[in-house]
Amino acid sequence: MRKHVKNNVSWVGYIDWELEKFHGDDYSIMNGSSQNAYLLEEEKTVLIDTVWTPHRFDFVENLKKEIDLKKIDAVIANHGECDHSGSLTALMAEIPDVPIYCTANAVKSIEGQYGKQNWNFHIVKTGDSLEIGNGKKLIFVEMRMLHWPDSMATYMTGDNILFSNDAFGQHYAVEELFNDKANQCLLNKEAMKYFANILNPFAAILTKKLEEIGKLNLPIEIIAPSHGAIWRDNPLQIVTKYAEWANAYQENQITVIYDTMWEGTTKIAHAIASEIATQSPETVVKVFNIAKADKNEIMTEIFKSKAIALGSPTVSNSILSSVAGLLEFTKQLKFKNKKAAAFGCYGWSGESVKILQEKLKDSGFSVIDENIKAMWVPTEEDLGKIPALVTALLA
Ligand code: FEO
Repeated sequence: MRKHVKNNVSWVGYIDWELEKFHGDDYSIMNGSSQNAYLLEEEKTVLIDTVWTPHRFDFVENLKKEIDLKKIDAVIANHGECDHSGSLTALMAEIPDVPIYCTANAVKSIEGQYGKQNWNFHIVKTGDSLEIGNGKKLIFVEMRMLHWPDSMATYMTGDNILFSNDAFGQHYAVEELFNDKANQCLLNKEAMKYFANILNPFAAILTKKLEEIGKLNLPIEIIAPSHGAIWRDNPLQIVTKYAEWANAYQENQITVIYDTMWEGTTKIAHAIASEIATQSPETVVKVFNIAKADKNEIMTEIFKSKAIALGSPTVSNSILSSVAGLLEFTKQLKFKNKKAAAFGCYGWSGESVKILQEKLKDSGFSVIDENIKAMWVPTEEDLGKIPALVTALLA
């Protein structure tokens, strides 16, 4: 069922309350999500994006209840990923000749996924526009690598709406649709989690793109992303936040992250956390056992941190696979401007701390020399090294 956005613009997407995972199992969904599609009914009728493949038949049936599909003059495909293009096959079966406006790369990604369909693609570049009647037009802005090569945004003049696709989105279900109706704490948390876990690798590109969009001097009254709440109350607040987040973001927080076999490494982790609170009461301290915590939530906390302490016992001359997986993910996400320390227990060979330090450096962290390497279980002597480690992390 449609939801009214502004004047002749409606939301016709899918609110996914049941969704638990996204990108396969790589992104955890804690508060539902949505795939936002938009219907513009000016002199021309335009559909912006669709919804994920499993919902394609419901999407088309619901759309038929709202309008005669033959009235659609154009489809805009801002992005080829299947959570937004996944209903195109079902939709275009009904309206095969309707033009699809998208980037050249979107033709590749769409045909790559659904096969050559002979759809009526109209390739657009930044600055190209489409008149939609009533004195309004759509202006296209390529958003290359934000976060796929095919990504673009579409700006609607007159109503001054930026349909930003993934940018500024959140995996967060908001039945009332708008940011001013959402739980503000959850909205901010989910927007940051989305940025940290999906967009952070492209932070430098994003900074340039935000400057480029700013120079266009387009008045923006609404930012309508393809996931989560629509920003209508002070919409530029999320643009301001993105500019901060894309600039080597950090808060006064240190996160202690570890996995353990027989609790020795746990003892070190807790002692480090306690010492941070003692030395710097104003610093936020968070502690996560990787085996028990959600990895995307951990990544969001790393994103917020000025430093981390990472621990693993030595196992088979290496580190626990859970810690190795987390390090691989941090490398992908390209965090900047963060210190790190390593710690861990061992029984005989004791390679874990050195391996952690090397992998942390490889992931872009500034690794301090101070570390805690404890044989069997941490002794008072081992724990006595923690104040110096924490002082170096706080410096
Ligand atoms: Fe929401 Fe990149 O798809």
